[in-house]
Amino acid sequence: MGFGKDFIFGLATSAAQIEGGAFDDGRGPSIWDEFAKIPGKIHNNTPPTTACGSYRHFDRDLKNLLDVGVDSYRMSISWSRVLPEGKGALNQKGVDYYKRCFDKLLSAGIKPNVTLYHWDLPQALEDENGWVNRDTVGYFSDYAYKMFELYGDVVPLWSTVNEPIATYVGYALGGFAPGRTNEKEGNQARHNILVAHGAAVDAFRASKAKGDIGIVIDIWKRHALTDSPEDKAIEKDQDERNWKFYTDPVLGGSYSDYLLEHLAAEGTLMDIRPGDLELMHRPIDYYGLNVYNRVPVTADKQAEADFTQGGNFLNNKTEYYPKAIYDAIKLVNDLYKLRIPIIVTENGTYAIGSEPRDPATGMIEDDDRIKYVSGFLSWLEKALDEGYDVRGYYLWSLMDNYEWTAAYNFRFGIYETDFETFECKPKKSALWYRDFIKKVKEK
Ligand code: NOJ
Repeated sequence: MGFGKDFIFGLATSAAQIEGGAFDDGRGPSIWDEFAKIPGKIHNNTPPTTACGSYRHFDRDLKNLLDVGVDSYRMSISWSRVLPEGKGALNQKGVDYYKRCFDKLLSAGIKPNVTLYHWDLPQALEDENGWVNRDTVGYFSDYAYKMFELYGDVVPLWSTVNEPIATYVGYALGGFAPGRTNEKEGNQARHNILVAHGAAVDAFRASKAKGDIGIVIDIWKRHALTDSPEDKAIEKDQDERNWKFYTDPVLGGSYSDYLLEHLAAEGTLMDIRPGDLELMHRPIDYYGLNVYNRVPVTADKQAEADFTQGGNFLNNKTEYYPKAIYDAIKLVNDLYKLRIPIIVTENGTYAIGSEPRDPATGMIEDDDRIKYVSGFLSWLEKALDEGYDVRGYYLWSLMDNYEWTAAYNFRFGIYETDFETFECKPKKSALWYRDFIKKVKEK
């Protein structure tokens, strides 16, 4: 068993994080362009205006993808590049850009896996109350339908929404764009985006698109550090309010009673319209799992100190817990009796600031990243050996890019990016991933 010949190995990015060219060729601003103007929200107040310059340098990215030898490239469409107002007339230059990307990938034998919404709502729609406005559901499915009609005959893999929790962080916690802080509106926004996901799946089935469609939801499983009822309660509460808010309705067909009761008691329950649950639960072709780590929780100061002192940590001080991928795969299968395959749409780790270099060659020696990725791949292989249906794995990310509020300070790439010259050079992990893929294919 293990990784079969058809297993998809990929690399992932998203539009706002790599394209730059924020105002080129008629692109409209997204909420991240606006959010970056609020002082103190983003590391060094850096806006995503230039990022990795992929809008002008797609051939550079293509070459690097070919050098690593991936089967697939996960990227996203910037909604405001193709529809500067979020609706209405298409921006032909933006449309042509993605057509060129997809054609080039396909000619190179690399399958595009395309995300429609990776956190970059057109600012014009935010000006109409963004994801809190129910009309945004319709604007999203209209945009999705246009993309399916344009590219549906060539793109084999689609996802509607990436990590819907980002809307909650943006509307309730103020941590992401658009930087709003209203709990009830945050719940409405995250509900609406799940309904929008379902409406886009309907648009997909009604369009001429031929490929498969899914949604990407991240799982950060909470782990109580002690067996005390208090810690168990924290674990349950945080699981419910975080990833289960999304996986329950999408994969299971309903919100949990726990969640509905708590939000009602807190006065923050969203408006759920008749038919919403059915829409959110529309049959999809695969579930996209983003998995990075577990989250230990405890109210016990001693248990916390023991964990901090005795745990297994990477240089960036995050826990090294590669079993998280196996746990998440098993968990969703147990909870929802999944009858669709899983694709691991993101997994990776970051360095803060600079990374060590080989003094002789100048190449970045990111041994921590290699340790992290190989650990996760081993646990993924165990899941495959046990018969779980996982079809692909995308490493985040092809190159160092705009890591949202951390801007260019958190580096997730297997290629290093020079954000001035837009030159990208392989790190040691790029060669390691290339060799790993090669070995699997030669088996
Ligand atoms: C989640 C997001 O999908 C992606 O945009 C982000 O850069 C990575 N994980 C790393 O934080």
